[in-house]
Amino acid sequence: MNIPFLDLSRMEESLKSRLKSRFSEVLEAGIFSGGKEVQALEQSVSDILKSKHSIPCANGTDALELALRALGIGVGDEVIVPAMTWVSTAEVVVLVGAKPIFWDTDPQGLLRSDWEKAVTPKTKAVIPVHLYGKMVEMKLLMEKAKLHHLFVIEDSSQAFGSFQHTKAAGTWGDIGCLSFYPTKNLGALGEAGMCLTQEGELAKKMRLLLNHGQPIRDQHETVGRNSRIDTVQAAFLNVMLEDFEKNQAIRKSIAKTYLEAFGGISELILPEDIVGEDHNAHLFVIQTQRRDELKQFLAERGIGTAIHYPAIVPDLKPYLTKGDFQSARNLANHGLSLPLNPYLKVEELGFVIDSVCKFFR
Ligand SMILES: Cc1ncc(COP(=O)(O)O)c(C=O)c1O
Repeated sequence: MNIPFLDLSRMEESLKSRLKSRFSEVLEAGIFSGGKEVQALEQSVSDILKSKHSIPCANGTDALELALRALGIGVGDEVIVPAMTWVSTAEVVVLVGAKPIFWDTDPQGLLRSDWEKAVTPKTKAVIPVHLYGKMVEMKLLMEKAKLHHLFVIEDSSQAFGSFQHTKAAGTWGDIGCLSFYPTKNLGALGEAGMCLTQEGELAKKMRLLLNHGQPIRDQHETVGRNSRIDTVQAAFLNVMLEDFEKNQAIRKSIAKTYLEAFGGISELILPEDIVGEDHNAHLFVIQTQRRDELKQFLAERGIGTAIHYPAIVPDLKPYLTKGDFQSARNLANHGLSLPLNPYLKVEELGFVIDSVCKFFR
């Protein structure tokens, strides 16, 4: 068997043909920046996530940077970020001139709930990351942030479609950031991202910042940049949204099958709450002391896996910070992502399960 971790060329033919015909429509319309596809995307995401302002931009990293800039965070400020995340979360803090203060995660990779111990007079914000699609306990986090007068930027890059107490990931904090990188549950055919906010003033600032500070053409009110979304990516995302619910149901069903199959393996730690509504089943990350051996065993049987992520951010050269970060480091050393995507065939799922069970037998 050859079971890729994820192979986007496996998209169904019907989806491919809808994408092609939408591309033709954009090509014929001749509008490649802004336009009705971008407006439609804003409206759809606002409706699905119940977000007042949904502001598309070039990618998820830009979304985070735009959020920090809109909140006025910069030189001399500190921002609390989890030690285990994709590098962007810390990268943007450095890019705006502020300092990331790393805090350990819980065993599942979510910012540990005692993060407020890292608060100093310089702390301006905290960035909870809904890692692998599972949401941080947001009621509690918002209460603590309020107590310390901190801004909250939710890194919801991996959590499109997760809801806690019926409130979407990305709509709890001052600003929520989404990535539509192709591998995400809602992915473009290229780069794209989005900022969510419920506050008009912040929305206005982010719209200005991502478009050279222009409220209208050739009028520049502030120093900005170009982080507009491509019209064609907005159009592809509008098509992808048509299949989102269906694909989510497939993801959840695969996750459930894995959970049931691996429940008896005492050597494995399984993802918590992955079938619940506050997890979008983006990644199925198992943890085992024999991670590298298992990865190798599965590779020999043609099964692709991935590691999210092999190093914690404070161990990376540009961000070197001393600290224990025990749970985050544990995840980096023992976590393994199994194939979980709408293109996984039933027999492939069965083979992955048999192989994992065989390894531990
Ligand atoms: C947790 C997290 N933050 C930020 C990003 C950045 O998003 P993008 O790749 O669209 O810039 C990603 C996506 O890879 C992510 O997973």
